[in-house]
Amino acid sequence: MSRSGKVTVVGAGFYGSTTALRLAEYDIFETVVLTDIVEGKSEGLALDINQSRSIENFETKVVGATTTADGGGYEKTANSDVVVITAGLPRKSGMSRMDLIGVNAGIVRGVAENLAKYSPNSVIIVVSNPLDEMTALTQLATKFSYNKVIGQAGMLDTARFTNFVAEKCGVDISGVKTLTLGSHGETMVPVPSRCTVNGKALSDVLSTVDIADLVDKTRNGGAEIVALLKTGSAYYAPSAAAARMARAVITDSNEVMPVCAWVNGEYGINGVYLGVEAQIGKHGVNKVVETNLTADELASLKVAAEAVRTKQADVKDL
Ligand code: LAC
Repeated sequence: MSRSGKVTVVGAGFYGSTTALRLAEYDIFETVVLTDIVEGKSEGLALDINQSRSIENFETKVVGATTTADGGGYEKTANSDVVVITAGLPRKSGMSRMDLIGVNAGIVRGVAENLAKYSPNSVIIVVSNPLDEMTALTQLATKFSYNKVIGQAGMLDTARFTNFVAEKCGVDISGVKTLTLGSHGETMVPVPSRCTVNGKALSDVLSTVDIADLVDKTRNGGAEIVALLKTGSAYYAPSAAAARMARAVITDSNEVMPVCAWVNGEYGINGVYLGVEAQIGKHGVNKVVETNLTADELASLKVAAEAVRTKQADVKDL
């Protein structure tokens, strides 16, 4: 089997290190680089993952790099094809993602500028919170074309929705299709009209009250985990989503995925990073794919667009 390409994961916390492990276990990349500002952390984790290779049967090599805010260590990330930015602080119990905007903007801006210098042709997948704003900031800081900077959120929120629907209906995960658009925050837009359970419309299977409850649970899916963990936020489902997006880029798969992408005209919405479905390949977003929405869902998507537009305008000064 031939392996190709280099992926860098910035930040070796639980989210970053789990993403690096998933990417390595795919066994399709030549190299996975894992970076962190804590000296030795990423090197230690890289060594640990490499030592699992003969057990899990993969050849991809993981390289650790300690980086500094002024760009030290970034040479090991040079010429990455795809980068996942997990840098920044996670939420604490009771915090909204938006509470992180000040502190994480400084961190993400610095990381993005350093990455742009060393990997000017990469596609960047942002997962730092608040997600829609950090994605917009990364595009500003790198000056990359919009299609090459994507945020991970819709895959995760959709996966949460799917899990809740499958549990409520007592069916296999594989029988459930759902979709979530909008922001990765208060204005998340779960799309019940695109949900099916074993091929049947969700509205034929569950009552309006039950659907509203699942929509609510999905919107609060991240906060529920933060409250249970007490320190840190979710990483198994988030890393699965980010790794799949990186895989779609490196394999040029052209899969349609819910992601945070630059929307310019679709749904009558202009010039904002927003959760939509998009076709992902080696250049990042090939195109935003519009889906049929009910009037209410479209109205909610427009509300989400205006909410994130206001906040995204703020990030250029952070
Ligand atoms: C979550 C964080 C990672 O939703 O945004 O769990």
